[in-house]
Amino acid sequence: MKSRSERIVMLTCYDALFARLLDAQGVDILLVGDSVNQVLAGAETTLSATLDQMLYHTRMVRRGTSRALVVCDMPFLTYQVSKEEALHNCGRVLAQTGCQAVKLEGGVHVAPTVRALVDVGIPVMGHIGLTPQSVHALGGNRVQGRDEIAAQRLKNDAKALEEAGAFALVLELVPAELAATITNSLRIPTIGIGAGPACDGEIQVLHDMLGLFEWLKPRHAKRYAEVGKLIQRAVAQYVAEVRAGDFPTDENCFHVPELAERR
Ligand code: KIV
Repeated sequence: MKSRSERIVMLTCYDALFARLLDAQGVDILLVGDSVNQVLAGAETTLSATLDQMLYHTRMVRRGTSRALVVCDMPFLTYQVSKEEALHNCGRVLAQTGCQAVKLEGGVHVAPTVRALVDVGIPVMGHIGLTPQSVHALGGNRVQGRDEIAAQRLKNDAKALEEAGAFALVLELVPAELAATITNSLRIPTIGIGAGPACDGEIQVLHDMLGLFEWLKPRHAKRYAEVGKLIQRAVAQYVAEVRAGDFPTDENCFHVPELAERR
């Protein structure tokens, strides 16, 4: 797609119900992000996401997908400890969920692991810039690569991942100009989130773009709907109607005439 200048559309997805809806609309890649730990499980960060959690959600997404590529985000400490553990855990994800690729966070330091995975036939997507599993080391969810040294480090990370065999790269919270430079320097596609329009594709957190969070509106996201408000209105009406005795009505009932006669 990069060589044809076709932009790549990617969204997070955590279950079969949404996977069917997104797949039908032509989304190219569904990422079972470890953000599931925040979005659905209510945790503060992605750090406590587990391999079992990712296996469970990735299986569901795969069941609902017939066209899109499904990528599973490897959770914290499932690939950083040793290459052997990374091979074992990523292999398990591919074998037990039916997804086609994994995503790892990190640059130069994770490149040898990426090489080892690619060598055994596991497709790997990289992720640099703001890497949420390092949120504490990075001092919060901040834009990365803001000075010359940090920008050069990200360029080196991107090159190292490409050379290690990654098939694509997520750039998260990176200045648009730097994302453009990195994108132009690589043969593999970049997928941006908060990284400007020059990336080869875009990823967003589904629940952000649907407006499911009432309390959070990240600057890099655009709300395409207000589904959270819609749900609240529907549930408020249900609560009111049940309390008032307006639901269920006769339309929602089943009648057995013989029973009525016997009374
Ligand atoms: O976990 C996730 O949802 C992600 C995306 C934000 C890229 O890693």
